[in-house]
Amino acid sequence: MAAKLTSDERDMLAGKHGPGVQKALEIVVALGKIYGAQDLVPVESVQVSGVSYQNLGSAGLAFLREWANDGARVRVPTFLNPAGMDLRRWQTMGIDAEFARQQLAVIDAFTVLGIAPTCTCTPYLIGYEPGPGAHVAWAESSAVSFANSVLGARTNREGGPSALAAAICGRTARYGLHCDENRRASVLVEVSCPVRSVSDWGALGYMVGQATQSQVLYFQGLEPDGVDALKALGAAMAASGAVALYHVEGVTPEARLAGVLRPDHTRLAIDNLEAGYRALSGGPTRIDLVWLGCPHASVAEVARLAAFAEGRRFVPEVWITTNRPVREESEMAGSVAAIETAGGRVWADGCVVVAPLRGRFSTVATLSAKGAYYAPSLLGTDVRYGTWLQLERAMLTGFWE
Ligand code: F3S
Repeated sequence: MAAKLTSDERDMLAGKHGPGVQKALEIVVALGKIYGAQDLVPVESVQVSGVSYQNLGSAGLAFLREWANDGARVRVPTFLNPAGMDLRRWQTMGIDAEFARQQLAVIDAFTVLGIAPTCTCTPYLIGYEPGPGAHVAWAESSAVSFANSVLGARTNREGGPSALAAAICGRTARYGLHCDENRRASVLVEVSCPVRSVSDWGALGYMVGQATQSQVLYFQGLEPDGVDALKALGAAMAASGAVALYHVEGVTPEARLAGVLRPDHTRLAIDNLEAGYRALSGGPTRIDLVWLGCPHASVAEVARLAAFAEGRRFVPEVWITTNRPVREESEMAGSVAAIETAGGRVWADGCVVVAPLRGRFSTVATLSAKGAYYAPSLLGTDVRYGTWLQLERAMLTGFWE
């Protein structure tokens, strides 16, 4: 591996760029050795995970500060995964002051490293959109899936330290999905039932992810009506399995490449989505939280909730999570006011399942298959998963029909 390093990389490894960069390159090189990489590849952008203080803890915070004290700074555009709260309105969110203090200290530590305090799992909605073939090092599983599949960029599913190391040395090891041969599909997924709504896309993704785990997929029979559909599909497959790349015939950029489907592929036929809906939904019918915006909502998704909220009053808590730029754009469009007048909340920066909310809610209703998958274990709630119409009824009555 050392023989394949450039002279600049050898200098980094020898400590000529300081101990912070040296540590970063050591991590990247060690990963390269484990995965059999021949060399390193420069990355255009990095998304760092492990941002919620709930996941990072005091040891993680100390680790970040130590790295910054060693002179480490990021060399490529780098942004963060969601935090454990809205960074500005955490008090309204009911977050404990000590948690908030620690969470803000984590954001400060990342900022010292030169990282933009943009906390989101949908960076591609706010301008971080790598082009086809671009090498990046992203960490959040649904963002990784979107970058690889919909944008045609190249990233493995990075962990928190490995993404940070890539940002600090500007490189990652060339293995896995950075290499052409690993981007070919080994499963042909033939979908013969209609897939129309966001919850349909999520149910399909849940079923396919569970059946195929981390394989690369090639879908036939799908006609997504926009990026929100693919966002829901990819997030669900990355949660129930570990799918980091899929191709959709006639839609995604690499689907048309010759040989994208391996000749020795297996087949998976999906002719209805009932099993997905059934697996994700259960428990009491009384709903105390309706959660939208997993992955973080687009302006269109916030506007859809706002249009429904107009002139109505929500019975349970209704939360939609998104990133700060989308919240600001939605605020200017009047969507935030419409939702909050109805009693809902539009949170920026945070994610419900990495927030310190365990014990606060009993049953969550959602359109997100990924949210439904994680809420029982991470939030300790029951979950109702279903259609937009069912969600509308839950928002107005507090019950699932
Ligand atoms: Fe994003 Fe949290 Fe969902 S990170 S994808 S909102 S579980």
